[in-house]
Amino acid sequence: MKIKKSLLHKTFAKLSQIKVLVIGDLILDEYLIGSVERISPEAPVPVVWVRNEKQTLGGSGNVVQNLSSIGVNGIVYGRIGNDKAGESLERILLSNSVAKEDLVLLKSKTLPTILKTRIIASHQQVCRVDREEIVPLTEAEEATILETLKQKIKESSAVILSDYDKGYLTPSLIQSVISLCNAEEKIVTVDPQVSHFFLYQNIHIMTPNHHEAGKALGKKLASDSEIESACREISERITPDAMMITRGEKGMSIYERKTNTFYHIPTVAKEVFDVTGAGDTVITTYTAFVASGMSIKEAALVSNVSAGIVVGKLGAATVTQPEIEDALRTLGYLDEEV
Ligand SMILES: Nc1ncnc2c1ncn2[C@@H]1O[C@H](COP(=O)(O)OP(=O)(O)OP(=O)(O)O)[C@@H](O)[C@H]1O
Ligand SMILES: [Mg+2]
Repeated sequence: MKIKKSLLHKTFAKLSQIKVLVIGDLILDEYLIGSVERISPEAPVPVVWVRNEKQTLGGSGNVVQNLSSIGVNGIVYGRIGNDKAGESLERILLSNSVAKEDLVLLKSKTLPTILKTRIIASHQQVCRVDREEIVPLTEAEEATILETLKQKIKESSAVILSDYDKGYLTPSLIQSVISLCNAEEKIVTVDPQVSHFFLYQNIHIMTPNHHEAGKALGKKLASDSEIESACREISERITPDAMMITRGEKGMSIYERKTNTFYHIPTVAKEVFDVTGAGDTVITTYTAFVASGMSIKEAALVSNVSAGIVVGKLGAATVTQPEIEDALRTLGYLDEEV
């Protein structure tokens, strides 16, 4: 398959006009970077001399960062704690194409902001320190969210559920979001958690990796035919428009339910440095491009190419429009005819 250059440019132009709503578990990723010069006199552990610190968006925040990088404004629903990490998250989200009125954060009085701190010495992770309490939203919190959600769904072109199973996406909130979106005729795309797998009924698409889809069905998924029957089986149970299973170094497979057709796309990554966050890039680019007018197959192709770019970068990376166009051209996926 090829993508017409004129369609690509039309879609790029549309990206800056739409908003995509991201609902899910916000995480702050923190990096303390330094070197080890000695062993501690207090215990047999290295002493890391910190020279540099970095904070980035994790969890559903990484979806927001991916949106921002391709020029799409986000509307964000999530929960933070009443703490410094929460303030950092808020500040970083505001600098990633989210307007103040589109940042709808619940500030918990009792829970901390989910914070994952990596201590890195000479390019090696020494240890990770996690601060999180996984507690589902209370009924009162859900009610607060639902007060504004309908209006924000109206203002958006698509909704991404970025489920990291940290408590924000409760079964009842998932159901409320999907029914509001269906009423407003807005597509919902889901990066699922295995524990919620069959709750995401009547969505546009779900994008689990092959391990998650296999776990949900209780079988191992490796061959194309095993992936195809998994897509059919899941689709029968949740009736989405389409089903996507990402397959790591094997690329991805997409099933369109209405036409009963499969599309297997091989990976295009030349060099693989870091696969962290590739799944976030897939759901973000797919959703933004479909919401801006591409077909399911075209958007899937763009998302696979985008994932191929980010796995060649370090950390939870993102892509830009020029990088996508260059990669499509280099890979022979771009039809330059006008
Ligand atoms: N080792 C790899 N080599 C080449 N491409 C890869 C590799 N791993 C991932 N990709 C690309 O990234 C896409 C998504 O990766 P994957 O299936 O690992 O998702 P995931 O497990 O959900 O990722 P995440 O770690 O973000 O949750 C794949 O469809 C593929 O295009
Ligand atoms: Mg994933």
